[in-house]
Amino acid sequence: MNAIRTGSGLSRHVDHLQRLPERNLPTRLLYTGYLLVIGVGLLMAGAQILLTHGMADGRFGISLDDIVYSYYGNRSNSKLESKLNGSMQDKAPIETRRAIIRWVQLGASRDEWDGGMGEHFDQYCVSCHSVIPALPSFTTYEGVLPSAAIDTGTTVDALARVSHIHLFGIAFIFFFVGYIFAQTVGFQPWVQGVLIITPFVFLLVDVLSWWLTKWYPDFAILTLLGGIGYSVASAIMILASLYQMWFMTELSKPKSSQTNSIGQDSID
Ligand code: HEC
Repeated sequence: MNAIRTGSGLSRHVDHLQRLPERNLPTRLLYTGYLLVIGVGLLMAGAQILLTHGMADGRFGISLDDIVYSYYGNRSNSKLESKLNGSMQDKAPIETRRAIIRWVQLGASRDEWDGGMGEHFDQYCVSCHSVIPALPSFTTYEGVLPSAAIDTGTTVDALARVSHIHLFGIAFIFFFVGYIFAQTVGFQPWVQGVLIITPFVFLLVDVLSWWLTKWYPDFAILTLLGGIGYSVASAIMILASLYQMWFMTELSKPKSSQTNSIGQDSID
């Protein structure tokens, strides 16, 4: 107990790293720039999730249904049908949407496509679904057909691709956020350790849950927990690091008072 509270004990627990409040100005600016950009990036990622997955069930805001629809699919429906009742609801008048849905439910025949159905898509859909690369193109029958099939969610291909990009990319973010946070002072080492390891664990939980949800929709809850878990841990680390760099800097100044009271509690 005593050892931790003395000046020397406090610096021993930060090991070879320097203490954040004592960092020189260029290093603090480097860390601050990084943390600010990452912080804004995390907020943007949150916004993007709300706008893509969040709209999967047609309502704004992330819910378990959104996650299930994204990974497991909405297996009572085709994508066309669920989108026309969801986020594409405002893109065509009700009669047109009903006609498309009826066409899909009756098997999405080529004859009907040629007999006028294609024109509905031309009129209401291709202004986006032919020019935006991430969207399926609806200019031809072949282009529409996959969206008319039963929706089984993300493909294994896409899942593998997104998983590895996500793991590699985000591990870097958490590494540097944790590295900077490891230099904070005043935390018990185990508290610091838990905060540092949490995002990595939740990142694995998150990615694993996508795969599990692809086959077992009940696991969608893990995706939600994973996302919340690493957002909260990162937010705490980013805010604590920024605070110590800019509002605890007076700690670094009374160097002399620390040296002439060795063994005393000069920090408090
Ligand atoms: C103003 C642009 C725009 C128009 C017009 C539009 N869409 Fe979309 N569509 C989008 C965007 C953006 C997405 C991706 C976001 C989403 O899934 O809500 C999307 C997604 C979809 C998807 C899911 C694609 C996939 O594989 O994930 C379907 C199906 C769809 N739209 C059908 C239609 C139909 C049918 C029409 C015409 C009645 C239409 N859209 C008109 C912009 C548009």
